[in-house]
Amino acid sequence: MEPGFGEPIDIFFGLRYDKKRLYMKLSEDRKVESKEISQAVISRLPRYFRYLGELKDEGIERVSSQELSDIMKVTASQIRQDFNNFGGFGQQGYGYKVEYLYEEIGKILGLDKEHRLIIIGAGNLGQALANYMNFERRGFIFRGIFDNNPSLYGKRIRDMAVRPMEELADFVKENNIDIAVLTIPKNSAVAVAEQLVRDGIKGIWNFAHVDLNVPESIQVENVHLSDSLMKLTYNIISYEQDGRKL
Ligand code: NAI
Repeated sequence: MEPGFGEPIDIFFGLRYDKKRLYMKLSEDRKVESKEISQAVISRLPRYFRYLGELKDEGIERVSSQELSDIMKVTASQIRQDFNNFGGFGQQGYGYKVEYLYEEIGKILGLDKEHRLIIIGAGNLGQALANYMNFERRGFIFRGIFDNNPSLYGKRIRDMAVRPMEELADFVKENNIDIAVLTIPKNSAVAVAEQLVRDGIKGIWNFAHVDLNVPESIQVENVHLSDSLMKLTYNIISYEQDGRKL
């Protein structure tokens, strides 16, 4: 089990809820005290943020919870409940102000600040992520890619040379790196994560299929693409068996 996470209550879908719960300090103008926000709510915020970004790009200024509900396939009452965790975002008259809501949710997600990240492991997945890095639109700045295979040193991936692991500690400090993406095999991921913690990293986006042994102060987000695929196959089977989509 990952440090900082509680028991997985929904093992099938790979969803995990934080036993400790997350505490979020909200801005004073919304007159809300520090408040416990469940991981289930937090896990929905990126989706709200994405849809609101699309509405904003389309020039839509206001949206009601019912309209959001139709677009997002989440009930309007769920949306209102979620937003009430953050003071409700001031829905008045006809709906929410799209740009305001987008910016506020962005702030809650920490997207109003830049995050500097590095990738450890310049193999298939590491290179694919480096080449995608559309994340930069959200303020995630890709600063470097590392590997321990000498044949990869100097290889240019999206205009950045692959660096040897020996340069990692200095690089992290000099470039104020806060996030590391781990795309290395699981047998070396635990030791590399420990090194990253010593070097001062704050968060790890972990693609290696192993639980990392890091202090509670370090945030880890485990990604398992196959969980999503298993959810898909579950829904296919359920639909075929029951004639309804769960
Ligand atoms: P790959 O073999 O193409 O790349 C791995 C890279 O890590 C290699 O370049 C290797 O030299 C480097 N490496 C190994 N040990 C290292 C160390 N101690 N320090 C620095 N670099 C090191 O493998 P691929 O396909 O890119 O997958 C990487 C990892 O991600 C694997 O563990 C795989 O199981 C996992 N993976 C996870 C997915 C997910 O959804 N969570 C999806 C796909 C892969």
